[in-house]
Amino acid sequence: MVQRVFVLLLHLLTLVVIANAGVHETQTQGGRRTLLSNGLGLTPQMGWNSWNHFQCNINETLIKQTADAMVVSGLAALGYKYINIDDCWGEFNRDSQGNLVAKASTFPSGIKGLADYVHSKGLKLGIYSDAGTTTCSTTMPGSLDHEEQDAKTFASWGVDYLKYDNCANTGLNPRERYMKMGRALLNSGRSIFFSLCEWGQDDPATWAGGVGNSWRTTGDIQDKWESMTLIADQNDRWASYAKPGSWNDPDMLEVGNGGMTTEEYRSHFSIWALAKAPLLIGCDIRSMDKLTFKLLSNKEVIAVNQDKLGVQGKKVKKEGDLEVWAGPLTKKRVAIVLWNRGESQANITARWTDIGLGSSTVVDVRDLWEHSTKSAVKYQISALVEPHACKMYTLTRRKA
Ligand code: GAL
Repeated sequence: MVQRVFVLLLHLLTLVVIANAGVHETQTQGGRRTLLSNGLGLTPQMGWNSWNHFQCNINETLIKQTADAMVVSGLAALGYKYINIDDCWGEFNRDSQGNLVAKASTFPSGIKGLADYVHSKGLKLGIYSDAGTTTCSTTMPGSLDHEEQDAKTFASWGVDYLKYDNCANTGLNPRERYMKMGRALLNSGRSIFFSLCEWGQDDPATWAGGVGNSWRTTGDIQDKWESMTLIADQNDRWASYAKPGSWNDPDMLEVGNGGMTTEEYRSHFSIWALAKAPLLIGCDIRSMDKLTFKLLSNKEVIAVNQDKLGVQGKKVKKEGDLEVWAGPLTKKRVAIVLWNRGESQANITARWTDIGLGSSTVVDVRDLWEHSTKSAVKYQISALVEPHACKMYTLTRRKA
């Protein structure tokens, strides 16, 4: 009996050792254990993804022109560095060795050629696969049971980022499916950002921090006010799980796609920035209009998103449709969004006590959209906010 228990324990030990091979376990500051140590995503990822605007209508010319536009527009210099190809880039069948193959009709130079081009522009290339038997478009195979092989293929092509979707998953445990690919990427010989796209179905915030650099918390965003606001709220639930290296992902930006007003897009971008969401542009940046560029290129808003403290700002107060969202930044600063989700103009107030400041604190208030500063402000900040619009500020404590 004792012998059998010993053999069983030995088996268990071997399993644990095998499962962790090549994976560097680390201990985070908060004591949470994590498998992931790829060192990426210390601030939320920034870049572009093909899906929201183009769906399956993609090809290598589009990807190259997007990389060009990223640089020429000045967006690359602001931090948008990932050019991410979403679904539909591959052939339906693997090759005779079981490797994924780029679609000959749309990506004739192959993904390696594209990665070389994107790298020559100082940018990084992202790709897409699925933790199931096919991708969501069903036009190409998924990576389930091919994790090691596909991760090595991506690494050999020079891929820097993998978005990993959840279709055709045959009901297998998501944690295991995503963990397998996370490990495969770590063992691939290349640093690859790992973005889980599990749609928030199995509360990934509670387990994905040790598996990947970001995880979707919601279903797909649509280019509509109702969808964007719903998703903002669904993502907000998980705020406490975000931290440098692992972020909640409320899906990619719709700014510039035409389904919302400028003020709605401003709210979308401000809340995504405050919530430390990935800033992945989802419009056609080759032909974006001036207003779209103005929203996406606001350095002060981007700086809130990229603040090194890495704490997700959240909804701290709600009175009907009038909301205050806030979160801490480095240097004991605070970022705030006053958000009017109602249909008429209204005054919104954030008291210092609503946003975690002592009531006697005196601050300078920087308006991140007006680019103006109000000095020595006490007790609270109020503003008249248009319907579906927001105001965004950072508060800096004055020296006593
Ligand atoms: C969905 C995913 C989208 C997009 C699409 C591609 O599952 O959430 O962001 O990647 O698949 O088919």
